[in-house]
Amino acid sequence: MFYAELLQAALAEPDWSILQRLAEIAVRLEMSLYIVGGPVRDCLLRRTGTDLDLTTEGDALTLARVAARDLGGAWKKFERFGTAKLYFPGRARSAPIDVATTRTETYAHPGALPEVTRGTLQTDLVRRDFTFNALAIRLDGDHQGELIDLHGGEQDLQQGLLRVLHPRSFEDDPTRLLRGARFEQRFGFSFATDTLQLIPPALPALDQVSGDRLRHELELIFGEAQPLKPLLRLHDLGVLHQIDPACVVDDWIAARFQTQTAPPERNVEEAQDDRFTCWAWLTCRLTESSLTRFSQRVNLARAEAVDVAQVKALRDAQGTIGMLQRRSEIYRALAAYSDRALRTALTVIDRPAAQQNIGLCLNELRHVKPALDGHQLQALGALRGPGLGRLLEQIHDAVLDGLITTPQQEEDYARQFIAREGQDP
Ligand code: CTP
Repeated sequence: MFYAELLQAALAEPDWSILQRLAEIAVRLEMSLYIVGGPVRDCLLRRTGTDLDLTTEGDALTLARVAARDLGGAWKKFERFGTAKLYFPGRARSAPIDVATTRTETYAHPGALPEVTRGTLQTDLVRRDFTFNALAIRLDGDHQGELIDLHGGEQDLQQGLLRVLHPRSFEDDPTRLLRGARFEQRFGFSFATDTLQLIPPALPALDQVSGDRLRHELELIFGEAQPLKPLLRLHDLGVLHQIDPACVVDDWIAARFQTQTAPPERNVEEAQDDRFTCWAWLTCRLTESSLTRFSQRVNLARAEAVDVAQVKALRDAQGTIGMLQRRSEIYRALAAYSDRALRTALTVIDRPAAQQNIGLCLNELRHVKPALDGHQLQALGALRGPGLGRLLEQIHDAVLDGLITTPQQEEDYARQFIAREGQDP
């Protein structure tokens, strides 16, 4: 029972009650039920988390379907993987309970996604990354509270050690190198000596890992409370260099990460912005060709690849940007850059005059709009065409520069322009 109590203490309500009800359903269906992996590790470390990963040697889809029906939740099945997600009132939609049938994984080649077949709890645990992530606590019936620790994970947790389960672990799944650094630094642990020795020979296997998987792992690191620590560790281990020789964490980049103070709760957009900022810090001092290669290696989404290139361009052009004087000139020079690129550029530019002009553009100039639009100018006699665009731009510039301050002045300006340059301005 000891471990059941630990689990109960680590879980916020309603999670413990939900687990109890799920365990009752598992008993009724004559299935075993275990909580496994991260939540078990966190509970033994007396840390609270929101992830609930469950596994059964029975059919997870049946369990999820019956549980959703009987407990008033919703469920989504992933037939191919034999897994399901359960959603219950009182738990965030973004934090479903994962239910899986115990499985065996084999890797066709290093770095490949695993081929999954049904397995036992033993095979399900032995496929995992580190001993402390290969722990399970049984939840059903009289077995409730039994710790299943086949690989010495509890002892490794107590000693603060990361240990892989077999010597080919990093080759099978080289993303474990990134996961390992993340856990090591998050918990203040160390790689066990024999595990550490497996890292250098496994580095070339990273070349087989897809950009999407690498990006995902790096973004998980960016989302840590202190991302700099695992990044430095990965730099020192040669993992970043193996991903791309241009991917380094030097003092300049470290200083950027040190300025980062992530508030505990970030909404989705803010978290996305934070991730983008990290990419920009890593890439904004690269040459154009290195930046393009690195963006491709981690398969950055097109919008992000464009914006990191913009941050670099803004940083490179800070001397010129700082010299701009007229408000309309500043607005035009920065018009092609996204808000996100401009905001992020403020964190990588050191010239105060450039900072000031970019800040001015973001906070003020981008919100200045003339009162008259193209339709209204046509009503005053301007004809459609490129000339109308010019007139709009001139009025906009005059408004930005404070030469025109009222709609009446805009109209007067337009009438004079049309009279001077003819019906088609
Ligand atoms: N796992 C693994 N190898 C991977 C990814 C996952 O062995 N490359 C296993 C581990 O047992 C892990 C579990 O799947 O505990 C769940 O993975 P995930 O949710 O990514 O990790 P957590 O351990 O829950 O870590 P975090 O606290 O960062 O969510």
